[in-house]
Amino acid sequence: MCGIIGYSGSRSATRVVLESLERLEYRGYDSAGLAVLEQDSPETLTIVKSHGKVQELTAALDLRGMPTGHTAIGHTRWATHGRPSVENAHPHQDCTGTISVIHNGIIENFRDLRIELAAKGHTFVSDTDSEVLTHLIEDAYTGHATLADAVRKALLRVEGAYAIVVVSAREPDTLVGARLNAPLVLGRGEDEVIISSDITALLPYTTSVVILGDGELVEVHGADYVVRTIATNSPATPEMVEVTWDAEQVQRGGYPHFMLKEIFEQPEALRNALRERVQHDGTIVLQDMPARLMDLEHPISEVIIVACGSALYAGMMARYALEQHTRIPVRIEVASEFRYYHGPVGPDTVVLAVSQSGETADTLAAVLEAHRCSATVVAITNVVGSAIARAADGAIMMQAGPEIGVAATKTFITQEACGLLFGLWLARERGEIAPETAQEWGRKLLAVPDAIEKVLDVEPQIVMLAKELAHVQSALYIARGMDVLLALEGALKLKEVSYIHAEAYPAGELKHGPIALLSADVPIIAIAAQKATYAKMVSNIQEVVARDAPVIAVIPEDMEDVPGVSDTSIIRFPAVDAFLAPLVAVVPLQLLAYHLAVERGCNVDQPRNLAKSVTVE
Ligand code: AGP
Repeated sequence: MCGIIGYSGSRSATRVVLESLERLEYRGYDSAGLAVLEQDSPETLTIVKSHGKVQELTAALDLRGMPTGHTAIGHTRWATHGRPSVENAHPHQDCTGTISVIHNGIIENFRDLRIELAAKGHTFVSDTDSEVLTHLIEDAYTGHATLADAVRKALLRVEGAYAIVVVSAREPDTLVGARLNAPLVLGRGEDEVIISSDITALLPYTTSVVILGDGELVEVHGADYVVRTIATNSPATPEMVEVTWDAEQVQRGGYPHFMLKEIFEQPEALRNALRERVQHDGTIVLQDMPARLMDLEHPISEVIIVACGSALYAGMMARYALEQHTRIPVRIEVASEFRYYHGPVGPDTVVLAVSQSGETADTLAAVLEAHRCSATVVAITNVVGSAIARAADGAIMMQAGPEIGVAATKTFITQEACGLLFGLWLARERGEIAPETAQEWGRKLLAVPDAIEKVLDVEPQIVMLAKELAHVQSALYIARGMDVLLALEGALKLKEVSYIHAEAYPAGELKHGPIALLSADVPIIAIAAQKATYAKMVSNIQEVVARDAPVIAVIPEDMEDVPGVSDTSIIRFPAVDAFLAPLVAVVPLQLLAYHLAVERGCNVDQPRNLAKSVTVE
């Protein structure tokens, strides 16, 4: 997820772009840059980029002098391909230095395109997927082609997701924007047009917003614009809206809190995590994995998963995938304990370190300890260039985009998905499952984002439940089998944001002690996503009902009702393969924690005593 902005109009384009980038910074903040068509010499593009936040870019501009001009583009980056650096920062340029592009999204076929373009003589200066766009446009920008023609032609070669804005020194008052599977909006003022990834950036200038449709391209000349489809080049009429949000709401995309926004972003976050990794036919591709994992001469005696908090529970998905498909034993270790005691670890051990921030001190310490013992380390993280990504021998980037709410939501789901992919990939690479079996799982995974989209519809039911339960001081989460990871995550989420004391147990453990806690004021949240253990879970629920404790049952939509539990307390989620259910069934648990926190007046996005990235041990 990155923030993009393009401006054409009567104001200072540099100023507008800089101010807008500050508003867009929550979408990415590892580097920033802009390209301006200078007023005095519009045939040259001035590009200034910096590592770090937008204020670093402003400082760089203050030092060199602000370029003056009326057409400019700018970008604030959240790295997915290539570490945060000036070279990888946007805008990118073509070989002639006259075309400049900013991009949000992921170009899935960039590797093939890069090989093809390099063979034709194009020079690449970054490690990003985005840079191929500049060279594709350069190739198509010949003869009588306009910039818009060239962009359209280039985009027909591209697979994946993009929102782009392009400028060219050959057409100094032109901006071209286009989108596919990534947002792009347009605001039209009296004598100006602004294009952005977010409505946030438009509102200081206009409240009339044009929502560009998927697969559409906009060509801006001065203050006029025209929209066409990319595929057929036919005129399109995009949707227009009048926005009435206040500035703070705008930052949160209209949601009252980042946590809720990020819960609702999960279908998209998961699609991005699977992008490039699961091809259309289901083939799973993981780039840059340590060669040692694919070396069948070199045995793997054990996989150890190290992580903290939600990342630890998400890592349990990898455990199930690995044990079921590779038959390699797997251990789950709390990272903060691993450095003190870890049992046998050696060159035959693979350590999987899961951390969305990539900076968690305990997880980093576990990685260093694993290396000290000569283990191979693979990281699952959301931050390119983070300490854990750099320390590991190979990393799977979650591609979830920045998460602002302290509670992990979209990063949890993408950690789960990356863990699953790692397990399936390793099993196939080591010949433990047939390529077709791995492919079948890949295809099933591709359908999960749609199931998550549907489960979000349970929100109104959860709002009602939260109103009924807002007074409770304690809650228990129970589940069996794989679903135990959901019970653990549900309880952690509730504690974190609502300050309600919550514990999670394998349902069979209830009668060995926790059942003594049951009362009308201690609700039980029972998660029964696995068909194999459904009947046993129903029996556990009966034990609870008999003790007058309120029950919320989270079950797949194709299972029968739970005796003794009212319809309003049964939350149903779309049926997916039981093995994938933890990706879908966690959503109602997140929504329950969120709405209970709201009912109790808690600071949802910044709960007391918690930090987003825990860099102390
Ligand atoms: C999750 O809601 C928490 N904020 C916390 O448990 C978190 O998952 C943990 O601190 C690990 O963070 P990491 O993924 O950045 O390593």
